[in-house]
Amino acid sequence: MANVAVIGAQWGDEGKGKVVDWLASRADIVVRFQGGHNAGHTLVVGNQTYKLSLLPSGLVRGKLGVIGNGVVIDPEALLAEMDRVRAQGLDVSPAKLRIAENATLILPLHGAIDRAREAARGDRRIGTTGRGIGPAYEDKVARRAIRVCDLAEPATLSDKLDELLLHHNTLLRGLGAETFEKQALLDRLLALAPLILPHAEPVWERLDQARRAGQRILFEGAQAVMLDVDHGTYPYVTSSNTIAATAASGSGIGPGAVGFVLGIAKAYCTRVGSGPFPTELLDATGRLLGERGREFGTVTGRPRRCGWFDAALVRQAVKVGGIQGLALTKLDVLDGLAELRVCTGYTIGGQSFTHLPAAPGAQAAAQPVYETMEGWSGSTRGARSFAQLPAQAVKYVKRIEELVEAPVTLLSTSPERDDTILVRDPFED
Ligand code: GDP
Ligand code: IMO
Ligand code: MG
Repeated sequence: MANVAVIGAQWGDEGKGKVVDWLASRADIVVRFQGGHNAGHTLVVGNQTYKLSLLPSGLVRGKLGVIGNGVVIDPEALLAEMDRVRAQGLDVSPAKLRIAENATLILPLHGAIDRAREAARGDRRIGTTGRGIGPAYEDKVARRAIRVCDLAEPATLSDKLDELLLHHNTLLRGLGAETFEKQALLDRLLALAPLILPHAEPVWERLDQARRAGQRILFEGAQAVMLDVDHGTYPYVTSSNTIAATAASGSGIGPGAVGFVLGIAKAYCTRVGSGPFPTELLDATGRLLGERGREFGTVTGRPRRCGWFDAALVRQAVKVGGIQGLALTKLDVLDGLAELRVCTGYTIGGQSFTHLPAAPGAQAAAQPVYETMEGWSGSTRGARSFAQLPAQAVKYVKRIEELVEAPVTLLSTSPERDDTILVRDPFED
C-alpha cells in the first residue's frame, strides 16, 4: 500500500508526532487533515526537541508538508510556529509548506468565544484548549467562515467580517465578554495575507499528481478516536472527525488513497480536559505514571490524567477508526511496576459491556473490569528489537494485541526518534 494514515486510538497525546516523524523517512509528503493548534506534538531528535502544533511533523525530515482543507488555521499561531521552527533550522518556505486554499481560518474572536463559553459552563466545562477550535468549525458548517482564499479578496473579507461580527459580537455581549471591531480585524488579516498566500494552493491537485506519480503520502492525524465529534465521549470531544476516513475529506483525495491505517496507543492511558475516563487512577500509581511519562499537555501545560490501558476502548477505536495496525508507545513508562492492569470491558448498573456506550450517564458510570498481569523488573527503555525486551513485557504486548483485535506493528520505547521497534512496515502492507 502506498499511503499510510496515522491516528490516535485513545484521547490524544499517544506519541503520534514521534511515530509520524519516524515514518516520514519513508514518505514523500506529510499531510495534516483535521484539527488545529489544539494539537501538540513533541519530537525528540538527538539534542533537539521540536514542538509542533499546526505544522506537519514531516517537515522535521525535510519532507513536503501539506495543511489540508480539514484543518482550522489560526494564521497568527501558524506564523509564530513557523518562526519558531525556522530558528531551529527547518525549511518552512513555500517550497516545503503548502496550505489548502479552502481551509478555514481561526480568528481572535473564536478564541474569545471558546474561553467565554467555557467560563460560563463552570463545572460542566469541556476543558478545551481555549484556542477557538470549536467556534471555527461551527462557522465552517454555518457557511460564514473566512477561508485562506478569502485573504486574496479584500472585498470578500470585508463582507464576511460584517456577517461574522454580527453573529459573534451578539454572542460575546451576551456572555459579558469584550466585542471585536471590524477595521482592526480587517487590517490585521490584510497584513497577514502576503505571508500566508504564497503557501496557498488547491492541494487536492498536488495530492492527485503525487498519487499518480506513485509518491508516498503520510496522513498525520491530530487528537484521537475518543475525541472524535461523532465517535468519541461526546460532548467531551474536539470539534472535528479524527478517524482515518477524514484524511480523504480533509485533504481532497478519494477514500481508497488513504491506505494503511496505523493507530497509535500508549501502553497505558491518559486524557487532558474533562470527561469520562473509566480506568483513571487517582492514586499513587496514577501520579507515578504521570511523573515517569512526563504527562503534561504540550499545548496548555495541564497535567494529564493517567490510568491503566483500556483494551475495550482501544478495541472500539480499532473498529470505528478502521485501524489495521497498532503502534504501542511509552512501554518504558511501565518498567518496574510489580503488577499491571488491563481493562477488558465495563459494568454499568450491574450490566456487562464490552464497549463504552454512547450515553453520557452510562459513560460516567462505567466501572472497568480488569485483568491483572505481572510486571517486569528489567528495562525496555531504548530497546530497538523484541529480543531486548523482558519476556513479561513481550507477554503484555501480545495480550494487548489479542484484546484489541489488531496487530502491534510498531513499538516505541523512548521519546527519541530511533528508539523504535518496527514489526511490519505499514508502507509495505
Ligand atoms: P501526540 O500529540 O500524539 O503527538 O503526542 P505528544 O507529543 O503530545 O505526547 C507524547 C509525549 O510522549 C511526547 O513528549 C513524546 O516525546 C513522548 N514519547 C513518545 N513516545 C515515547 C515513548 O515510547 N516513551 C516515552 N517515555 N516517551 C515517549
Ligand atoms: P494531540 O494532537 C489531547 C482535548 C482538549 C479538550 C477537548 C476539546 O496533541 O493529541 P478543543 O480545544 O479541541 O475544543 O478541546 O479535546 N484535546 C486534546 N487532548 N491531545 C490533543 O491533541 C488534543 N486536542 C484537543 O483537552 O478535552
Ligand atoms: Mg499532543
